[in-house]
Amino acid sequence: MNRKDGRAKVTGTATYAAEHQIPGLVHGYLVTAAIAHGQITSIDTQQAATAPGVIAVFTHENSPPVSKPTNDFIASKIYEARLPLSDDQINYAGQIIGLVVADTFERARHAAHLVKVEYATKAPIIEAATATYNEAASMFGESMKFEKGNFATGDLATAIAGAAGKITATYTTSTELHAPMEPHAIIAHWQDGENLTVYEPSQWVICSQRTYAELFGLSVDQVRIVTPFIGGGFGSKAFPWSHGILCASAARKLQRPLKVVVSRRQMTANTGHRSETEQTISLGAKADGSLISIDHAAKSCTSPVEVFTEPCTGITSSMYATPNLRTSQELAEINVGVPTFMRAPGENPGLWALESAMDELAWELNIDPVELRLKNDSKEHQRRGLPFSAKHFTECLRVGAAQFGWEERAKQVRSLTRDGKLIGWGMAASTFPGLRSAATVTVKLLADGTAHILTSGNDMGTGTYTIVAGTAGEVLGLPVEQVRVELGDSLLPNGGMAGGSQMTATLVPAVMSACKEVLQIAKATTASEAFANLHQSGESTFEATTSTAPGDEGKKWTFQSWGAHFCEVSVDEEIARVRVTPWVSVMNIGRVMNAKTAASQIRGGVIMGIGQALMEECHFDPNIGYPVVYDLATYHYPSHADIPRIQVTFVGEPDYNFNPAGVRGVGEIGITGVSAAIANAIYHATGKRIRDLPITPDKLL
Ligand code: MOS
Repeated sequence: MNRKDGRAKVTGTATYAAEHQIPGLVHGYLVTAAIAHGQITSIDTQQAATAPGVIAVFTHENSPPVSKPTNDFIASKIYEARLPLSDDQINYAGQIIGLVVADTFERARHAAHLVKVEYATKAPIIEAATATYNEAASMFGESMKFEKGNFATGDLATAIAGAAGKITATYTTSTELHAPMEPHAIIAHWQDGENLTVYEPSQWVICSQRTYAELFGLSVDQVRIVTPFIGGGFGSKAFPWSHGILCASAARKLQRPLKVVVSRRQMTANTGHRSETEQTISLGAKADGSLISIDHAAKSCTSPVEVFTEPCTGITSSMYATPNLRTSQELAEINVGVPTFMRAPGENPGLWALESAMDELAWELNIDPVELRLKNDSKEHQRRGLPFSAKHFTECLRVGAAQFGWEERAKQVRSLTRDGKLIGWGMAASTFPGLRSAATVTVKLLADGTAHILTSGNDMGTGTYTIVAGTAGEVLGLPVEQVRVELGDSLLPNGGMAGGSQMTATLVPAVMSACKEVLQIAKATTASEAFANLHQSGESTFEATTSTAPGDEGKKWTFQSWGAHFCEVSVDEEIARVRVTPWVSVMNIGRVMNAKTAASQIRGGVIMGIGQALMEECHFDPNIGYPVVYDLATYHYPSHADIPRIQVTFVGEPDYNFNPAGVRGVGEIGITGVSAAIANAIYHATGKRIRDLPITPDKLL
């Protein structure tokens, strides 16, 4: 089945946040700090305030009122704990210090540059290497009971001492930007004084609604979130950011609909990034390759205005079986904007380190890297002590190896050449937990022979419209053309969150249940019978609303998805240019709801991983703390010419322990392991082990 929203997207009729047309709309432009640490000593807005078209200028001296939200992930959540314009302190370069509102975007932007700011500057802490690290706290607050990154079992020191083969190495990753196609933007529209409509990309509509309600002292039903389409989020569009809070508060003050679009440059500081990481891994193994110890220590950085740990060690205790295991996670505060969730937070940098280390161990022991992984397949999640449900990791490895032709791999480095270039093969494992939440869905059967599926759950480009329509069509026995899907509006029933790759596993069971329920109400087994009964009944619609939620299956099983990547690289040694040539990914994600959109998710993840491996890095000037990478020209990521053919295959069976659809979700797993597979292939090609991402030409020369 083709993408349900494909035509709307390619013809431009899909409406994104900044494109909603609201009569009387005015425009806000953010004023941002030019220093990374210190205090505003004076802020002169007079020239800006009297510039043509200017309606208002907001700074910390006249900031519109906002209440502090609970910010615990349950009642509400904002990305940056400090509220915008709440004081004169500067915590990072590019921090929002004002908002200029004018009748046009250009006039607001012009006037924003007329605001004169003086600072008392303190030396910023910018470099992770010189920052002070402490044990990282539980990431989502104590109420979420999220596991800390620290865990230990067995006797590591004795184990390592007795190992036949061991490696210890340190791996780093750079600060990365989400860089979604759709920039961050919001329109805040207050009606009748106390009702707020927010047009803003939101991966979690209901949490956004609750959060704006808390921020402005409103009841939840006084806030409406509208987000039918999202142009990529990757974790950066789940909760209100400071620009959104400021826009909504300024709009309330002015009682005018107000739009704020964050520029690409401003997005570097104000809408999240993935922290740089430093990870040291020690592996010890017997001569036959069985692991006897894994020691994984990770460091990442956060901002002075938020605690966010890149949870690199979270996945380690589930990946390979070993009797001796230690993970630790440390965090330092530096003067940068807020780091946050970015596609496979933790799993991605964690597997970069672990899967690089596994490759190093394979060379050390002279064992094939596929064999090494087969040998250490885990049967249960060590930390939870629960078996995996429907795990087919070894099949991913075997099928991938066969598709790629892995058995013909040259056994020595620098032994393959083609067209004057060195050729290398690499592989790595992939994994991501299976998550699921509660969801409510309404189904209506209408007299015109169509079914409408309604839920606030959303589609950030991943394929939700498509799989919801496909599921409804299947249960109702109705062609998908006759299924209409409405998503991304808080007026609709709570459809959960597009995060943690859980939207499909959350929503599909609810869609199935609501469709079955509506057929029961219609006393029918198929939609056509139901429509006939509807016609006879004289009613206008048959309607059902049902909710589904996880039960206690999580007490019996660990739900986790698995995969393996195989790739080839060519390296032109004279100019140190790396090209990724063929790519094979084999994934085990439970049931595949839609082969096209699922494969697209994996391809997108692989492409994003190739960017991480070879190109993406955001640097901050070590003296003034300002990002020196600030737009889509200076932040390099892959274009079409950089991307090989990516062959995607799914293996395994539906995971019915997890939910009635047997689906585990597919949004994030594709990126995990990609950068390690590439680094491993580069080692095979060149004999150079690069442990610092991205692998730019300077590191290979
Ligand atoms: Mo994802 S980083 O949970 O949007």
